Amino acid sequence: MRVATFLLVAGLTNAFHLPSWIPFVHSQEAQQTLGLPPDDIARNRIAIIGAGAGGSSAAFWISKAKERFGLDVEVDVYDKNDYIGGRSITVQPYDDPELVPKELGGSIFVKSNKNLWRATDEFGLERTDFGDEATATGIWDGSQFIITVGGGKHFYDSWFDSLKVVWRYGYRAPMKTKSIVDKMVKKFVEFYDPSAQTFPNITELTTRLGWSEFLAQTTSEYLDLQGIDHRWTREMIEAATRVNYGQNVDALHALEGLVSMAATGAAAVKTGNFRIFEEFLHRSKANVYLNTTVKGIKRDEKTSLWALQTLNASTVMEDTRYYRGVILAAPVHQTSIDLKLPKDVPVIPAQPYVHLHVTLLTTTSPHAKPSYFGLADDAVIPPWVLTTYEGARFGGVEPEFNSLSVHGKLQRKDGKEREKDEYVVKIFSKQRISDEFLNKLFDGVGWVYRKEWDAYPVLPPTTTFPPVKIDTGFYYVNAFEPFISTMETETISSRNVVDLLLEELFDSGICKKATNATEVPERRGEEFVYGWDC
Ligand SMILES: Cc1cc2nc3c(=O)[nH]c(=O)nc-3n(C[C@H](O)[C@H](O)[C@H](O)COP(=O)(O)OP(=O)(O)OC[C@H]3O[C@@H](n4cnc5c(N)ncnc54)[C@H](O)[C@@H]3O)c2cc1C
Ligand SMILES: *[C@@H]1O[C@H](CO)[C@@H](O)[C@H](O)[C@H]1NC(C)=O
Ligand SMILES: *[C@@H]1O[C@H](CO)[C@@H](O)[C@H](O)[C@H]1NC(C)=O
Ligand SMILES: *[C@@H]1O[C@H](CO)[C@@H](O)[C@H](O)[C@H]1NC(C)=O
Ligand SMILES: *[C@@H]1O[C@H](CO)[C@@H](O)[C@H](O)[C@H]1NC(C)=O
Repeated sequence: MRVATFLLVAGLTNAFHLPSWIPFVHSQEAQQTLGLPPDDIARNRIAIIGAGAGGSSAAFWISKAKERFGLDVEVDVYDKNDYIGGRSITVQPYDDPELVPKELGGSIFVKSNKNLWRATDEFGLERTDFGDEATATGIWDGSQFIITVGGGKHFYDSWFDSLKVVWRYGYRAPMKTKSIVDKMVKKFVEFYDPSAQTFPNITELTTRLGWSEFLAQTTSEYLDLQGIDHRWTREMIEAATRVNYGQNVDALHALEGLVSMAATGAAAVKTGNFRIFEEFLHRSKANVYLNTTVKGIKRDEKTSLWALQTLNASTVMEDTRYYRGVILAAPVHQTSIDLKLPKDVPVIPAQPYVHLHVTLLTTTSPHAKPSYFGLADDAVIPPWVLTTYEGARFGGVEPEFNSLSVHGKLQRKDGKEREKDEYVVKIFSKQRISDEFLNKLFDGVGWVYRKEWDAYPVLPPTTTFPPVKIDTGFYYVNAFEPFISTMETETISSRNVVDLLLEELFDSGICKKATNATEVPERRGEEFVYGWDC
């Protein structure tokens, strides 16, 4: 009944075809004449802004509470893009739908990323083993390859146990790093425990996890204090921090530095990671409005509901909708949302992001040209070239890219041979990669695709984080990003935000009935994942 009434009212709003943005209306009477939903309809509606990893999973978590406890809420998801996935999206080489798509943004996750792993299992999405793609990895410092590792094995694994690694850095540096990373991962998976707690404040979460020292220091400061070989940190670990976060070990906080090293057994969804996020939304049964930008958010004084001003790019129509709860699942400073908050609500501090150029291309060469690296024509160039800033620290030139990786041959989806062999290459860089520069790197360049992202936060050491809760009924998923920025952690942050919001507004939760009883669900072994199994 409620839904039908709303549709009717919404239909009327559209029929009026209001030409421009209507100022927020305060009186009940005016609201009704304008055909805006009366309070009782808006009362149980939640808006989610952003349909990436964070927003799509937020809708999914809410649907779990609906499914389990019959929680009566309607969810609307808005994204200004015309696709689901946000920073996780694939492209078709040559714009050819017959070819295997390539990830343009978030590409890998690991088994300890239990939400994504579980989602792929439950949604029947086939995973590809990422490690198999790489055969050898060289670390380039701008003027020379300082080391090359790998060869047939998972390339991240080979970082720790290759003979060359031991020869250059000793046995202790990789072992000690591995033990710190393993310990961090062991702590990380507590997020999925039956007893997982919500965290209204990330600084306090940091303390609870015992990770304050990781957050308070740069990666190199922290590892140096652990007595780990300096060169190892500035070469091998920096190669990982530069490819994963576009930042150096002496700038990036140690938690994100360690996360960069925790990529053992990396996987991806064969048809694109965004498929997980499509499934989250599809299964949540939320209303999904793509091509729709949220332009303004304001609390309606009269009803205390959140008024969202939206702009539909397909119809160029503006609208105002009222919600009891709002989940912001996009980096706030990139949304251009006119956020009108009550005076007593603190401003969300500005958070700069790393501006990254991603260049995807195909080439007939299985690796970059030796001449680019100043090597003889018969020199063996590893298909993966990661970089370190260490050369530049000693007066050399900084590498012209962050990473350059050959991702095997361009393949058809049906597995048939292509007429000519071409390889797919992905380059991450701070600057645009020109055609001229590409020709210095590769022979026989075919398809080229360029994308600029505000990829991840600039992550210096910090002890303060953005607010998880912005105001009553208004929560912020991407507050988690300056702590850890990955697809998985956005689904953990959204779970936390949904639990807090449902608790606040409905005395409910993803795993908690609308009562004041606190039941701790029984542990169901290793496979238990909080939110999925409670
Ligand atoms: C090149 C690259 C490589 C990466 N590699 C990895 C990786 O290997 N593994 C990994 O885990 N992570 C990786 N990441 C990071 C990962 O992609 C992100 O952490 C994650 O996808 C963020 O998800 P999100 O939902 O929080 O934000 P987003 O995906 O950014 O989603 C936010 C959404 O909000 C929408 N939006 C913004 N403003 C408005 C508005 N006003 N109205 C309506 N909609 C709005 C945007 O259009 C967007 O779709 C990578 C990122 C990049 C760019
Ligand atoms: C935007 O317009 C399209 C096309 O008319 C419609 O399908 C979609 O539902 C609209 N979105 C919103 C948020 O109203
Ligand atoms: C989004 O809007 C553009 C016009 O701005 C339109 O061409 C496109 O078809 C729309 N996409 C969807 C999914 O509505
Ligand atoms: C989180 O807690 C810390 C320490 O208790 C406090 O200083 C900070 O202001 C809180 N942050 C927010 C966003 O509330
Ligand atoms: C809530 O707690 C109170 C006091 O502890 C108790 O009397 C009441 O029955 C509880 N209500 C529910 C619904 O469990």
